Parts: sequence; C-alpha cells; structure tokens
Amino acid sequence: MDMKKITIAIDGYSSCGKSTLAKQLAKELHYIFIDSGAMYRGITLFALQNDCISDEEVNSKKLIPLLDGIELHFQLNPKTNSPELQLNGKNVEGEIRTPKISSLVSKISSIREVREKLVKEQRKMGQSGGIVMDGRDIGSVVFPNAELKIFVTAEIETRTERRFSELSEKGIATTREEVQKNLIERDHLDSTRAMSPLKQTEDAIVIDNTHISREEQLKVAIGLVEDILLAK
Ligand code: DC
Repeated sequence: MDMKKITIAIDGYSSCGKSTLAKQLAKELHYIFIDSGAMYRGITLFALQNDCISDEEVNSKKLIPLLDGIELHFQLNPKTNSPELQLNGKNVEGEIRTPKISSLVSKISSIREVREKLVKEQRKMGQSGGIVMDGRDIGSVVFPNAELKIFVTAEIETRTERRFSELSEKGIATTREEVQKNLIERDHLDSTRAMSPLKQTEDAIVIDNTHISREEQLKVAIGLVEDILLAK
C-alpha cells in the first residue's frame, strides 16, 4: 500500500468493536493504534485510587487539581502485540477493564478538565499522522480533519453478547443483564453529555457489523483507506 500516512478516526457506541477494528487496521497499515477510551478508564482508576469517588459520586473538585500529576502512556506488550495503558508508570491494562470502572467512566469523561487534558494528549500523539484512534469524539473533536472517519455500530444484543464473552474469558464475574444495562447507560450518558457528546459526523462512513465478521469488517475498512490513498 502507498506510503502516504493518513489519520483515521473511529467512533461509535460502547462495545461495538471499534478497538478491534482500529487495532487490525493499524497492524495492517503499520500505523499507531490508540484506544482513547483506555485513557478515560485510566483517569477513572486514578480517581478511585485517590478517593475522588465515593458512593458512585465523583468529587471533581478534588480530582481536577490532581490531573496535572497523572501521566498516561501506552507500552507495547510484545506477547500480545497490543499497546497497554501505563498509569504513572504502572501497567493498569487489567484494572481498567473491570465492570466497576465501566460503571464509573462515563461520569469521569463528562468532566471538562478531564476531556481538555486527554484531547490535548491525543492530538499530540497524532500530530504526524499514521494513526488509528478509536473513541467517541475522535472524528468530531480530536481530529476533525481526519482523512477517514468511520462510525461503527451494531445491534445491542450483539454488543452485549460480545462484551459478556470478553469479560467471561477474562474470568470477570458478571451477567448478560448487568452488561447490557451498563452499555445502555453509558451510550445514554456518552451521547447526551454537554461536552463533546458521541455523535456521528456528517462525513463519517457507517459500518454496521451486526451481521459481518471481523475479517469482513476489516476488508471494508481497508477498501475505504485504499480509496483515499489513491485519490490523494
Ligand atoms: O471505548 P471504551 O468503552 O473503553 O470507553 C470508556 C468510556 O470512556 C466511554 O463510556 C466514554 C468515554 N470515552 C469518551 O468520552 N471519549 C472518548 N474519546 C473515548 C471514551
């Protein structure tokens, strides 16, 4: 494939396969892959560890002054070939994927100062192009000029089943009902919050992967990239 490097933004609802697609695309194109949701999860874990959350309520007055001291970066795990989140130098990839973090992360990600910090860091990571980033506001806010914007979607039952299997495989105890409730709640909070809510931009291309495999989805996305590179 052509050597010109573009920016690819992938957005969509929770657990619809955004990260899977972003990771596969980045591997195929030799681009950087950034899971921006992991960064919001990292701040949520930090908030929990530093007593900024009690009774499911976030104490933003306590958290905001601590944000400058939070260092997030990704380190490649050579065994899985996946980037893993480091929070102040400690690998927290396992800790940020628990149902507890999932149930709190939308509250943390609605705080303006949190978003400002992370958007700034995400833009820095993508300043040279050659990046695939997935999240909720990547095409609308982080990289509004991305050459390719994909909006991924899938039916709620499919998303529930995928997330449930993922958690079960990791040995995390939960139920389908609990998983579905969390997905619906997060979709609602993420798309109705005041600051950079999840939305499909007009120039995004929608991929509904309810009835297609990961491989088919990747093929569609590669086709989109090729069209853009050929037209450049
Ligand atoms: O992609 P994920 O499910 O791991 O993301 C966790 C949460 O982080 C999600 O519910 C909303 C928030 N998020 C966000 O607000 N903006 C992003 N760019 C990525 C995630």
